[in-house]
Amino acid sequence: MTCPSPQYFSQILKQWYEQHKRALPWRDTTNPYYIWLSEVILQQTRVAQGMPYYLKFVEAYPTVQDLAAAPQDDVLRLWQGLGYYSRARNMHHTAQLVVENFGGRFPDKYEELLKLKGVGSYTAAAIASFAFKEQVAVLDGNVFRVLSRVFGIADDIAVPASRKVFQKLADELVPPNAPDTYNQAIMEFGAIQCTPVMPDCLFCPLQQDCFAFNKGMVQELPVKSKAKAARHRFFHYIVLEFDGHYYLRKRLEGDIWQGLYDFYLYESESKDIDRAAMFQELAKAGIDIKDSQLREPHKVYKHILSHQKIMAQFYHFKLKSRLKEEVVKETRLALYNTEKIEALPKPVLISSYLKDAKILVHL
Ligand code: ADE
Repeated sequence: MTCPSPQYFSQILKQWYEQHKRALPWRDTTNPYYIWLSEVILQQTRVAQGMPYYLKFVEAYPTVQDLAAAPQDDVLRLWQGLGYYSRARNMHHTAQLVVENFGGRFPDKYEELLKLKGVGSYTAAAIASFAFKEQVAVLDGNVFRVLSRVFGIADDIAVPASRKVFQKLADELVPPNAPDTYNQAIMEFGAIQCTPVMPDCLFCPLQQDCFAFNKGMVQELPVKSKAKAARHRFFHYIVLEFDGHYYLRKRLEGDIWQGLYDFYLYESESKDIDRAAMFQELAKAGIDIKDSQLREPHKVYKHILSHQKIMAQFYHFKLKSRLKEEVVKETRLALYNTEKIEALPKPVLISSYLKDAKILVHL
């Protein structure tokens, strides 16, 4: 068995693509802004999950100028539920830069696109090839898998150094005449035909040419070492209510959910809190609530991030008076009515709690 030639490989993929491609809205455009939006949304997100977000963003911000002019809170609110919020923050930042430095026009070269914040080699290659027909190869999880199986590459795809090996091959395979269709085709082939667990080898047009199929190694390729075990974190949210309003604060840099709003947070090393320690911290912060007011929460809200597993519990307290000025300043908590809370960008588990506690009804 010999490896397929680049011409043969791209020809087969193109034919397969013409028959099997899904009609997706970002495929009907060469507008780099829409392509960029779709690719940022679709990183680490499935098409079915990403599609409604793409449509919402295009509707709310039809041009890069509209996105650049939007308040960050609104952009994060629209992104809510997609996770990886730094992608939304970087996207917003880059929209502003494209407007200010490039008069609203995206750079049209791979190397220039790569300089934009949040635009890595994958996104730069996608924009450069789909919008400007530049001959550069996209390399995402789908492409790694297809190349690894068809060409028998056993380098560990979880190791950054392997990227070079795959990129070299991928670059040799992109045809000069239709890099856009080829890149869409290989990703679609990975998403639909050469899937991670149950690839459809029986009806695969590359079956005869596929290293993994011929060697019985479809389940072994690609090689991907296991990620480190996730870190477990235990969040105890102190929900402070005053007169139907609630205290929330915007999360800062340096931890998860930067720019999103949540409640006063006490974090412990295990699920069971040391109540004395928690109330000591609250007292120190100037939040005057008593252990005797605490009602045991009956629900644990779980949220899985790429390297962390969050377990959160909520403790609702009604305050008799507002927090003092210096406490507000120190804790950065601010009082919001429920209408405003609805409009704020929040981690999904905060939204779920607000709904369960009937604080927000129309989520
Ligand atoms: N996943 C990432 N980019 C994609 C695209 N352009 N089409 C379909 N799925 C994708």
